[in-house]
Amino acid sequence: MPVKGFDTPHLLPVLKHPGHTGLYIDNLIFKNREEVFAGSICFCRFLSPEEHKTALSRLQTGEREYYDTIKSEKRRKDYLLGRYSAKLAVAKLTGEQEPDIVTVEKGDSGQPVLRYRSFADIQVSITHTGDFGAAAVFPKTCPLGIDLEKVSPGRAKVLAKKMTDGEKKLLENTNIPRDRGLIMVWTAKEALSKLLKTGFTIPFDMFEISEMTSGNHGQAAVYFRNFPGYKSLFLDLGSYGFSIAFSGALEPGINSAALKEFFLREEK
Ligand SMILES: CC(C)(COP(=O)(O)OP(=O)(O)OC[C@H]1O[C@@H](n2cnc3c(N)ncnc32)[C@H](O)[C@@H]1OP(=O)(O)O)[C@@H](O)C(=O)NCCC(=O)NCCS
Repeated sequence: MPVKGFDTPHLLPVLKHPGHTGLYIDNLIFKNREEVFAGSICFCRFLSPEEHKTALSRLQTGEREYYDTIKSEKRRKDYLLGRYSAKLAVAKLTGEQEPDIVTVEKGDSGQPVLRYRSFADIQVSITHTGDFGAAAVFPKTCPLGIDLEKVSPGRAKVLAKKMTDGEKKLLENTNIPRDRGLIMVWTAKEALSKLLKTGFTIPFDMFEISEMTSGNHGQAAVYFRNFPGYKSLFLDLGSYGFSIAFSGALEPGINSAALKEFFLREEK
């Protein structure tokens, strides 16, 4: 079956990142009976000042200029983690040997806009939370949105106030622990808002969850009342929860066991 979405699909694991252990980079596959779409994903955190420095040296002029205007240390790190992850995810997908040439600009709604050679057809979604940043790269014919959130009692308290009555009922009727369930609902909405490129600029109620089905190993599928064309996959990653929103007509191929193992290892 042909892989759709690229002029020349390369799926070569050519990335080399010596000494950088806080990295998880993998392929993403989405398919239905007729088509297969290939993407990639990178999760990253800096475990040493050297790793931070390496990432900084890979920013292109415009990115570095923007980075230098950021006042908050946390926001600087988040920005860098997102850009670095995006460059590595592009390299994973395309086989690009010089990921530095990939740049991610800011679109009118704050959305990341990928600039990379002639690959006008690939896009990126970025998230950052806690010590991690992540980026998913995908063909524009297979739009994705991602969101990663750290699980914490404080966060659960805030998120509980943002649930609709319907969502509260759905959560009561699943076997998903409450703190995970709240993160699941929130990250699914944020992932969809990124896929749509609106963020939360449209009424928050528009993102209401209508259904969720829990699977094995903390995975769950989440469906949206007002956007039946999309769904979201939730992965319980220990101290983190991750959602990826995509077309409801596709089945995802994501190595969730390896990703969870990476996060559990990182926690130790
Ligand atoms: C999208 C949104 C829900 C993300 O919330 P967050 O708490 O920042 O969450 P995350 O850390 O997971 O994601 C941040 C990333 O989302 C991406 N993002 C921001 N707005 C986006 C949009 N409209 N569509 C898609 N992705 C978007 C960015 O890449 C951002 O990272 P970066 O600024 O380092 O590039 C939130 O930023 C939002 O609602 N934005 C729209 C409203 C707004 O403030 N616009 C600013 C106009 S410039």
